[in-house]
Amino acid sequence: MELVHEPGAFRAACDAARKAGRRVGLVPTMGALHAGHLALVDAAAEAGADFRVVTIFVNPLQFGEGEDLDRYPRTLEADLEACRTRGVDLVFAPAPGAMYPPGFQTHVQVGELTERLEGEHRPGHFQGVTTVVTKLFLLTGPSVAVFGRKDYQQWRIVERMARDLDIPVEVLGHPIVREADGLALSSRNRYLSEDERERALGLARGLHAAAQAWAAGTREAETLVEVARGPIEERVDRIDYVAVVDPETLLPGAGVLQRGLVVVAAHVGATRLIDNHELGVDTPPPVEL
Ligand code: PAJ
Repeated sequence: MELVHEPGAFRAACDAARKAGRRVGLVPTMGALHAGHLALVDAAAEAGADFRVVTIFVNPLQFGEGEDLDRYPRTLEADLEACRTRGVDLVFAPAPGAMYPPGFQTHVQVGELTERLEGEHRPGHFQGVTTVVTKLFLLTGPSVAVFGRKDYQQWRIVERMARDLDIPVEVLGHPIVREADGLALSSRNRYLSEDERERALGLARGLHAAAQAWAAGTREAETLVEVARGPIEERVDRIDYVAVVDPETLLPGAGVLQRGLVVVAAHVGATRLIDNHELGVDTPPPVEL
């Protein structure tokens, strides 16, 4: 496995792989890698990528005022070891100054899809994501890029962006990887105290309840939201949103639904968590060990 820190060296390594006839698969991350990230590497292989690239970059552009940029976990040595054992070919871990040198002033902005849900609660967040992902796409030239549905809205936005800008990459969305008790894996889970870790399960329980209601035939958007909200508000400190939206447009569902994505964002202590479940499509999160 090769490790590079400079964008120029990174581009050269990807160019060489493509020239050698390799199919390049990209998994962009912010590091603090866990089994969810590593599942994306496997998915890239399954999608036919025989040159797998992981980028590790805590992107300052996507963090807002008062968010956790400074305390975001940085575990490069352990991340490299995990990549090595997973068969990653190339890791790109740039310094912030290498991605945004003095004078940097260009941003990529996707429309409507970025306005609601996370976009409403984290102004500027998605512009930071799409800007860095565009740079990574242009440096890498991947055939396929894998994103997690844990950040469902992010996945849909990147997919839209690639289509709108004619970026020749297949953007895949991989199902959420969870702990045995249902908690969605996240680099931010390591902020949680034991009590907070327990209460964080409220999100998966809410989604589970909505999945059960759906399985029992409930199709009313408003009812499904209330069913999901119950277990969540019992446990978390503050809810940013619980909603049922269309899985493609992310617009709010109303009345009788044919399909729906339950999305939730909530605060447990000082940690903000997100989770989601596509009704009738995803395996419902487990609720107990
Ligand atoms: P990060 O939070 O490190 O996540 C990297 C990728 O891993 C994202 O596509 C995310 O959805 C996926 N992921 C995280 N937890 C997951 C889980 N439990 N199951 C499945 N996939 C999971 O998302 C980002 O970084 C950044 O915004 C980035 C795209 C790298 C741009 O800076």
